[in-house]
Amino acid sequence: MQHLLSSLDLSKRDIEKLFTTAKGIQNGDAKTLKAHPVLVLLFDEPSTRTRVSFEVAMAQLGGSSIYVDSHTSQMSRGETLEDTARVISSYADFIAVRTVEQADIIKLASASAVPVINALTHLEHPTQSLADVYTMMWKTGRVKGMRIAFLGDIAQNTANSLMVVATKMGASLSLVGPKGLAPNARYLAEARKFGDVRVTDSLEDGLAGADVVYTDTFVSMGDESSRSKREKLFAKYQLNGKALSYAKKGAQVMHPLPAHRGVEITGDVLDGPRSMVWEQARNKLLLEKAVLLQLSRRGPN
Ligand code: CP
Repeated sequence: MQHLLSSLDLSKRDIEKLFTTAKGIQNGDAKTLKAHPVLVLLFDEPSTRTRVSFEVAMAQLGGSSIYVDSHTSQMSRGETLEDTARVISSYADFIAVRTVEQADIIKLASASAVPVINALTHLEHPTQSLADVYTMMWKTGRVKGMRIAFLGDIAQNTANSLMVVATKMGASLSLVGPKGLAPNARYLAEARKFGDVRVTDSLEDGLAGADVVYTDTFVSMGDESSRSKREKLFAKYQLNGKALSYAKKGAQVMHPLPAHRGVEITGDVLDGPRSMVWEQARNKLLLEKAVLLQLSRRGPN
């Protein structure tokens, strides 16, 4: 791995290696990075979990981080992505980027002398999906043979990355959303090379046999102007007690957060005994550490 830009670039072996590193850290293996490396977080969009967990990851690995809001950097006055990447990568050891366009992160990586990590674009959220699939494996003991039902907006970044990472690790998916909403064709085709991926508008059919029911916001970043339209469109796909009753007995619940209680998920389900969302959020730290260790050009101590 030179960069982590897309789930499409990750092989099953890459994912397994990251999971092994994460598991080692979880079991008390105190890994650190050499020579106090620095991560620059270059973010265009808000974040709580990804920003804080990357900053904590660097601190705990013996490095440090600098948060750069691109709106207050010279990028807001027209400095190119490539020039920004050249300069930042001459100071820092890693760059984590949260931006709108996947093409921009690829451009930035092409000019960077150091590893670039996708911390979310509107197309992908690969570090999230690594934490998600790791959490499924850690909590349930397996991913191979598991069926994940993804509920709601099946055409967004988390769904794209999750279907690719989860199928590479042996899971099947049901993408359950409104009639006429198609998943991203490229990600669907890639996921179908590795596992069974069904697309349905039927809540009952889609959740039947699901071991994990996964949902996410109905209004992704950038979609705020159509909030009321989207909330109406997806209302039927709210993850509530009734919806959960269609899944396997004991099915687990996931959400990458931030959650909107009473919109895509009800509070009783989010906070209930079948929810693993808090472990899922906590495991972002582990997987981000694993990514940083894997990408480090200086290697671990
Ligand atoms: N799940 C996630 O990416 O959360 P943040 O937007 O808070 O980083």
